[in-house]
Amino acid sequence: MQIFLDSADCREIEKWLQQGVIDGLTTNPSIMFKDAVYDIEQGARRLCVLLGARPVSVEVTSNDCQEMLVQARTFARWAQNIVVKVPVINEFGESCLGVINALNREGILVNATAILSFNQAILATKAGATYVSIFAGRVADEGNDPTTVIRNVRQWLDAWAYSAKIIVGSIRAVMDVQTAAIAGAHIITIPPQFLSKMVDHKYTRETVGQFVGDANKALEQIAHAKVAAGAGGLR
Ligand code: E4P
Repeated sequence: MQIFLDSADCREIEKWLQQGVIDGLTTNPSIMFKDAVYDIEQGARRLCVLLGARPVSVEVTSNDCQEMLVQARTFARWAQNIVVKVPVINEFGESCLGVINALNREGILVNATAILSFNQAILATKAGATYVSIFAGRVADEGNDPTTVIRNVRQWLDAWAYSAKIIVGSIRAVMDVQTAAIAGAHIITIPPQFLSKMVDHKYTRETVGQFVGDANKALEQIAHAKVAAGAGGLR
């Protein structure tokens, strides 16, 4: 399973890349805005350099399918590792599957985004999406079980041998990472604050504290023994 970072914060990205646990990056216009990236081109180019060869998802910002196509083609020219995020429908409920399909035929990688149901995921896959982004937190907001959606989509992809990969996003708690991983996510995209929580544990801190404390006591014993031996030699 891969882990992507759901962020546009360069400091956090550098920090987690250095830890060796990041396989890619996802953004959306809200994340960019939150992380003070106002110029999409400048920001995306910078993020793509930071990520090296790893995929970086950048989302179209229009409700118009023709404009999405124009934006997507422009984004794809910015860097080799750009993946264009296209919502399965626009905010008026009009299908964007044709955009996904056209981009796929042009060889542009698409992350079909804002997926909240099994049916949206299978249609986005058939249209040619490389990634299908299931928004776990938002599925749960609607009173539905994200685990069931993730598991069913994974079973369907495997049963019919589709190569599309599930990205589980909209992570709201550390527990969401665990449930998504067990349900069969190929990739989970995680905001940096949850990675910090995932690696931490109060009992691990206490355990390491005990070991460091005892190691220091052992060094003190050696120092005492040396002093005692030195004093014996003087007599
Ligand atoms: C990732 O691809 C999504 O854009 C992101 O995780 C959405 O998260 P949200 O539901 O917290 O806005």
